[in-house]
Amino acid sequence: METTITVKNLTKKFGTVVAVNNVSVTVEPGTFLTLLGPSGCGKTTLLRCISGLEDPDEGEIYIGDKLVYSHVKGISLAPGKRDLGLVFQNYALWPHMNVYKNLAFALEIQKLSKDEMNRRIKESLAEVQMTGYEDRYPREMSGGQQQRIALARMLAYRPHVFLMDEPLSNLDARLRMDMRTELKRLHHVSGATTVYVTHDQVEAMTMSTNIAIMKEGVIQQMDTPDRVYHFPATLFVADFIGNPKVNLMPGWVSGKDTVDIGKFNVPVSTLNQTGDVVVGIRPEDISISAKQEDDGVEFTAYSVLPSGAETTIIARKGDTELTVREMGVSKIKMDQKIWLKFHKEDINLYDKASGNLVNG
Ligand SMILES: Nc1ncnc2c1ncn2[C@@H]1O[C@H](COP(=O)(O)OP(=O)(O)O)[C@@H](O)[C@H]1O
Ligand SMILES: [Mg+2]
Repeated sequence: METTITVKNLTKKFGTVVAVNNVSVTVEPGTFLTLLGPSGCGKTTLLRCISGLEDPDEGEIYIGDKLVYSHVKGISLAPGKRDLGLVFQNYALWPHMNVYKNLAFALEIQKLSKDEMNRRIKESLAEVQMTGYEDRYPREMSGGQQQRIALARMLAYRPHVFLMDEPLSNLDARLRMDMRTELKRLHHVSGATTVYVTHDQVEAMTMSTNIAIMKEGVIQQMDTPDRVYHFPATLFVADFIGNPKVNLMPGWVSGKDTVDIGKFNVPVSTLNQTGDVVVGIRPEDISISAKQEDDGVEFTAYSVLPSGAETTIIARKGDTELTVREMGVSKIKMDQKIWLKFHKEDINLYDKASGNLVNG
């Protein structure tokens, strides 16, 4: 079943805190939308409003064709009446039930045959690598194991909408990677419309079809992971996405295709912008050379940080410090002179006052 989620002008306040501020978003059928942003930006509140666990102050929410919330019409359906399948918001397992019962409980509501139920429980436990834990009680498992069981419970239920709030947060790095793989497979196979909350940009980039980046209750940009990475709509998004971080250099437009950074210029695509700007360029988009080159700008290698697959080089020139990323092991040594090249097609330009992208 294909389900669209439509949120219109949604606002939710807690006292004077505006947790969600006039948010409008359409989640097309089959989308894996991730709400991404720093702690406190309103991700959980937005998800809880969609699920019906939180009552908004203003706006409308549709799940499919069904109006599930409307401030104006005085409609606010309970979570169970929103055709969401299972709302995966609370990971708490029933403490008095073992793993098998915890999973079966959700499936009994669906009135499945015993065989089908057992098959689904077996499959979903295998998917979270918890086969053999059927008889354990929650208190006999670690936090991470309990989280995996909660995830298995959701998988077994096979809802047509998945709502997930940081489901991988308690897991160790290895298992988190495995679970990303499995959740992405699950979405690929089921095609269920998914809204996923995380503050982890790698999780967002790797799993999502779309990312909505939030700041202070407002969606700053909603786009594909590729667009969010290569054409961040605001300085906030540019700075939030990417590790190592994007290089942001304040400068001013000194010609129709040049930005003056102070001690050097960078080329930009022809545009009408004037005045103070900020140049954004990703560390992997700067090319580095140990030899002087015509259009290269001389820097010094302040620090060279190899990490196996890639090397991060911190380059300095006067007050300007740039992060450069080279694949593999770099031949650059600390304190040597280097020449950096900037390519205009890799550069994003932001209006300094508004922080908004002016190319792209
Ligand atoms: N039940 C609540 N009572 C009061 N303030 C809340 C409540 N829930 C969330 N908030 C506030 O709303 C803002 C958004 O919170 P939340 O949606 O949990 O953010 P996130 O999930 O992005 O970390 C924060 O300032 C938070 O302190
Ligand atoms: Mg949260």
